[in-house]
Amino acid sequence: MLKLTNVTTVVGGFPAVRDVSLEIKKGEFVALLGSNGAGKTTLFRTIAGVLKPSKGVIEFNGKQLNNLPAHKIVMLGLSLCPEGRQLFPHLSVYKNLMMGAYTRRNDHKGIQLSLEQVYELFPILKERKNQLAGTFSGGQQQMLAIGRALMSKPDMLLLDEPSIGLAPLVVQKIADVIKNISKEMGTTVFLSEQNANMALMITDRGYVLENGKIVLAGPSSELIYNETVKKAYLGA
Ligand SMILES: Nc1ncnc2c1ncn2[C@@H]1O[C@H](COP(=O)(O)OP(=O)(O)OP(=O)(O)O)[C@@H](O)[C@H]1O
Ligand SMILES: [Mg+2]
Repeated sequence: MLKLTNVTTVVGGFPAVRDVSLEIKKGEFVALLGSNGAGKTTLFRTIAGVLKPSKGVIEFNGKQLNNLPAHKIVMLGLSLCPEGRQLFPHLSVYKNLMMGAYTRRNDHKGIQLSLEQVYELFPILKERKNQLAGTFSGGQQQMLAIGRALMSKPDMLLLDEPSIGLAPLVVQKIADVIKNISKEMGTTVFLSEQNANMALMITDRGYVLENGKIVLAGPSSELIYNETVKKAYLGA
């Protein structure tokens, strides 16, 4: 579904992503592990078309994404839930969700169906649909950000560090929902996390990014016992 070949992205004169090649098949649930500044966000923004790669090829369902604007990439079925949630704090929960459906704004029936699906996944978003997004707790804001990303009805969802800044119980809740989005809804999910423990517990396999490069890849059940991963991310 997604294929990157030797992708390099330069930001502010610095190659934050270097020569990355990877492939994700339809229905897979894949982790992208990396510590602070490893290049996870840069990689996700490059795939989503927010940043342009300076080298390499990005393909999604056989179509080259390199020169497409971000909204066209959303229309092809690839949606990014950005780092730091990036909500519209002065808009209601409902309006934030509708912003996620902007690229299919004439598909009223489809939008209604997605809205019901998101409300089922996150009942709190229905209960509080008229509340301003900025008044939500961190965990609720993360749920809203994921809900908004789902409103474009993506085939593939990029989730950039959804667990950051959240209490362990809330992280567990978010992890359960993401697993649901992957396994029950059948969405292909690429999850970036510093929280390797959480990510490796729920994903099928993962990549480890260091200084913009992929240094390790394998099934999550193996990565969790890998010495490098244990030392760098699992506090061993
Ligand atoms: N606009 C920019 N100008 C210069 N350097 C940048 C810019 N954006 C990112 N970088 C650098 O690129 C590297 C990768 O950053 P990036 O945000 O992609 O990492 P990350 O893995 O998402 O980190 P985090 O876990 O902290 O979110 C870092 O060294 C960062 O300082
Ligand atoms: Mg980041």
